[in-house]
Amino acid sequence: MSKGKKRQSTILVEGGRRKEWRGRLVNVPVERASTILFDSIEQLDASGPKLGAYRYGLQGTATHWALSEALTELEPDAAGTALYSTGLAAMTAALMSVLSSGDELFVTDSVYGPTRKFCDTVLKRFGVKTRYYDPLIGGGIANLISDKTRAILLESPGSLTMEVQDVPAICAVARERGIATVLDNTWATPLFFPAIAAGVDISVLAATKYVGGHADVMLGAATATEAHFSNLQRTSWDIGHAVSADDAWLGSRGLRTMGVRLKQHEASALKIAAWLKDQPQVGLVLHPALPDCPGHELWKRDFKGSSGLFSFELHGDTTAFADRLELFGIGYSWGGYESLVLPVNPHRAVSKAPAANLVRLHVGLEEADDLIEDIALALPT
Ligand SMILES: Cc1ncc(COP(=O)(O)O)c(C=O)c1O
Repeated sequence: MSKGKKRQSTILVEGGRRKEWRGRLVNVPVERASTILFDSIEQLDASGPKLGAYRYGLQGTATHWALSEALTELEPDAAGTALYSTGLAAMTAALMSVLSSGDELFVTDSVYGPTRKFCDTVLKRFGVKTRYYDPLIGGGIANLISDKTRAILLESPGSLTMEVQDVPAICAVARERGIATVLDNTWATPLFFPAIAAGVDISVLAATKYVGGHADVMLGAATATEAHFSNLQRTSWDIGHAVSADDAWLGSRGLRTMGVRLKQHEASALKIAAWLKDQPQVGLVLHPALPDCPGHELWKRDFKGSSGLFSFELHGDTTAFADRLELFGIGYSWGGYESLVLPVNPHRAVSKAPAANLVRLHVGLEEADDLIEDIALALPT
């Protein structure tokens, strides 16, 4: 079977495990390095900075290249993957690789909060103007962009409010006008939404979430097309992004089981979302696979599955509800094996959040019926 023909579950197991990197071990080992030694100055001078070749710790070691290669293989039509110490760093580096002073950037109004903050503060200081757009705008973005627009940032589904975007339509408009697209694909991962094949130029994952999968590592990845990858990787090295070999290794370790974990996250989240929909204390259930969620039809058209994170509208005190839960931890992040809860307050610049009084759940790998019993006891009476 040729390399490109492997199915995703097989790539999750095989990806990046080259014999030349792992030797006789099953896993590529942790190779920690700053200095790489050369036999001669001539050999050192001949070592151009590139992924997959020893040069300096910044360019990584086999531990990093294995994770990069596996993530690239998961995205049909992608040319390469750069790694970062957080998901946020992956996003900011991706944006910096396509923007210059004087450019205009369009950002979905449902974007992850710290990404919004980066655009409104750091990018602003460097002369980039951020304009927000309604996440449901679809191909209508053609009416907003100007000849200064250099990039469009998408996130689908959006943070907290879960709107599913028309990614192919927005990317088609962008490509026609020579505008770069960057997508935060953390919720779906390439398993449920192969972003590059959908027309995205740079697909960003907070690998801290489902790739790591165990709430014990911070990690980011940006996977790009041939046209964007070398500039993305060079910009990232120029800024000085590097990842600890231990963290890259944890990423590869998590990746091996991401497929089976996601299937369980999906099944349990769907069961809980459907149950919540029938509770009198609950209003809208913003889960992309349910009709309440704005863009649900696009999810049905474009996605191969749904993951464990969704929000719902609670008629009652969201803080007291979260405090009463026993099986859901209270804390930032998501994508680990354990369930989490957070009352959330979406920030909007140009659009209206689809619901108020929102609670976000990350459904972990506990038995779904136990989680439902926990929620039932915590709902307001
Ligand atoms: C959608 C989304 N993107 C990016 C990030 C940032 O990832 P990290 O925490 O690894 O910086 C998060 C973190 O919560 C997120 O929810």
